[in-house]
Amino acid sequence: MRGEDTLSEFPTCRTKVVRLRQLRYNDVHTMPRLVTAHVVRYLVHMPYPYGTEDARRFIDKSRRNFRLKKELNFAIDLTENGKLVGVISLQKIDNVNKSGQIGYWIAKKYWNMGIATESINLVINYAFRVLRLHKVYANVLATNRASIRVLEKNGLKREGTLRDSIYKYDKFFDVVLYYRLNRRPEFV
Ligand SMILES: CC(C)(COP(=O)(O)OP(=O)(O)OC[C@H]1O[C@@H](n2cnc3c(N)ncnc32)[C@H](O)[C@@H]1OP(=O)(O)O)[C@@H](O)C(=O)NCCC(=O)NCCS
Repeated sequence: MRGEDTLSEFPTCRTKVVRLRQLRYNDVHTMPRLVTAHVVRYLVHMPYPYGTEDARRFIDKSRRNFRLKKELNFAIDLTENGKLVGVISLQKIDNVNKSGQIGYWIAKKYWNMGIATESINLVINYAFRVLRLHKVYANVLATNRASIRVLEKNGLKREGTLRDSIYKYDKFFDVVLYYRLNRRPEFV
């Protein structure tokens, strides 16, 4: 991943499948087409319907919080054709306790192609190797089987359950906490 000197520039990364990059204002036109009802179903803070103004607000916030070194919100492009297919975030970057929270969504048309699994792997590697975080974690609705699967495929473990913590669609949902620790030795 480039941009390694502690967030002086936004990091980018490319594999055969995905390219992670900073969100651009151009993306406001594509994002609303990707954020469909299927995508927001398991997301807690995502407005719906999702319009260009929502996308612009998100990109503004992403840029502000990147400057503050508090979060990294990556656009996920397909390497083969450069199409934007989703977003993956490392948020709540806490340099005191050395932790950060991951979150992600992929447009429905591109589900089950390994895109989230690969993107999560890249972001965790960046968090551990470059930012030297000790812990990454994710909070998932207990009914979100696909998300739980991609976290487990990336070595995250179940830490606990918050009962009836999210109220959505007139129902309460349990939230499952997942985490992975950086087991590499710290060099000082
Ligand atoms: C969760 C999400 C990001 C997964 O993205 P993706 O690119 O399709 O993920 P991948 O292709 O890397 O892996 C999906 C895995 O889940 C599995 N899966 C899919 N639907 C499933 C289901 N209903 N039950 C169990 N497993 C399921 C797939 O089989 C695959 O596992 P496998 O590789 O062992 O076969 C995507 O579904 C999404 O954006 N959902 C809406 C937003 C969301 O839930 N975000 C996460 C909030 S915590």
